[in-house]
Amino acid sequence: MKSLERANFGTKLGVILATAGSAVGLGNVWRFPYMAGQNGGAAFILIYIGCVFLLGLPCMISEFIIGRHAASNTARAYAKLSPGTPWAIVGYLGVLTGFLITGYYAVVSGWCIQYIGASLLGHLHGDPEHVRHYFTAFSTNPLRPIIWTVLMLGISHIVIVHGIRDGIERASKMFMPTLFILLLIIVAASCMLPGGYKGIEYLFKPDFSKVTKDVFLGALGQSFYSLSIAMGCLCTFASYFSRQTKLPGTAVQIACIDTLVAILAGLMIFPAAFSVGVEPDSGPSLIFITLPNVFQQAFAQLPEVGYVISLAFYFLLSLAALTSLISLHEVSTSFFSEELHISRTWAATIVTVTCSVIGAFCSLSLGNTDSLTFAGKTLFDWFDFITGQIFLPIGGFFTCLFVGWYLPHKLVRDEYTNWGTLRGGMFHSYLLCVKYLCPLLIIMIFLHQLGFI
Ligand code: PHE
Repeated sequence: MKSLERANFGTKLGVILATAGSAVGLGNVWRFPYMAGQNGGAAFILIYIGCVFLLGLPCMISEFIIGRHAASNTARAYAKLSPGTPWAIVGYLGVLTGFLITGYYAVVSGWCIQYIGASLLGHLHGDPEHVRHYFTAFSTNPLRPIIWTVLMLGISHIVIVHGIRDGIERASKMFMPTLFILLLIIVAASCMLPGGYKGIEYLFKPDFSKVTKDVFLGALGQSFYSLSIAMGCLCTFASYFSRQTKLPGTAVQIACIDTLVAILAGLMIFPAAFSVGVEPDSGPSLIFITLPNVFQQAFAQLPEVGYVISLAFYFLLSLAALTSLISLHEVSTSFFSEELHISRTWAATIVTVTCSVIGAFCSLSLGNTDSLTFAGKTLFDWFDFITGQIFLPIGGFFTCLFVGWYLPHKLVRDEYTNWGTLRGGMFHSYLLCVKYLCPLLIIMIFLHQLGFI
């Protein structure tokens, strides 16, 4: 496909909603609120916002610059901007990371669908042991989770084959506002519960004494993951941006939406949890074991409301996961379509089929089988570890070096300022960040995640 014929997002809103759709995902719901509550409330939130500005935004803008300038898939983008050099490997790594994450992210997305059904049919009712057992039995079942994984990939497949404007942009314009409305409804219901104020206090009460080195490094890692950096998603989406799209402004808006959703997720979870005296945890057990119990108990007097809230919550989660999955799917689809010179439909089919197989193996590895467990970790955990803890920091690190040290400054400035039509007031600070600060922070995240610091 020649770059001149390349598809574009049609509207500014489409750009923002699609890219924010990638950023807003499970991480906003199952990790951020817990980190904030545990690590000093408002003090953590302030630090997190600092991390977003100093690390997340410069990395995001850098990927936008590469993607829009090259107007091609992530692997080719790096190769195009640095012909004949090993920098192309960074692009390939981005695509590989996106591809591998697609498979196992689809598994967890599929769990959300199962829970929509379970809420609808009232299967989550019962004592806490019942809910825990329900989750264990379901997630280790050899068939069910695979069906939902394939369904999620199938939905993202259908969106993607419709193209950028009619597929991804249109879907984002439907899904994202729906997600916001559901979020606000659940926040309102949760905050009105008796005793809910304790949850609000827990989330916001500033306690700087809890801010340690680990908290700071955790916030850095979370800002990186939450903004979908170094997975090829941002670079791929930016290749569909028009020349009018303001890269720094767009990045700021997306970061604000992502952070706002993360904070609102806290307001959805904590008041309900505290109203029934439950201290919330994080990760899959929070959303699949703790929260079903919380919703049930919190709305025990009004079971109909509890029913609707629980349904709305899993629907919201599924939407958040789906929009992230679409962006991941697109990374590999655009790669295969452009590199193998095949249609989007064929390329998407390759991705859907291969990722279904990866997802199936990841899901099976959670069952009671030892054959998919290596060195004490399931295949699922290995995918999570290799992509999240190894590939992501490496990709992000080299992307910063590429933009900060390798690309001509004129090219970077032209993209940043839309060829001189924007003031580009923060350009120097941005450049300082990508040259020095971000690579340093990413090395720190890397070492921290591996337990060295
Ligand atoms: N940013 C997403 C989140 O917060 C995670 C994600 C991972 C999105 C991979 C896209 C790709 O959950």
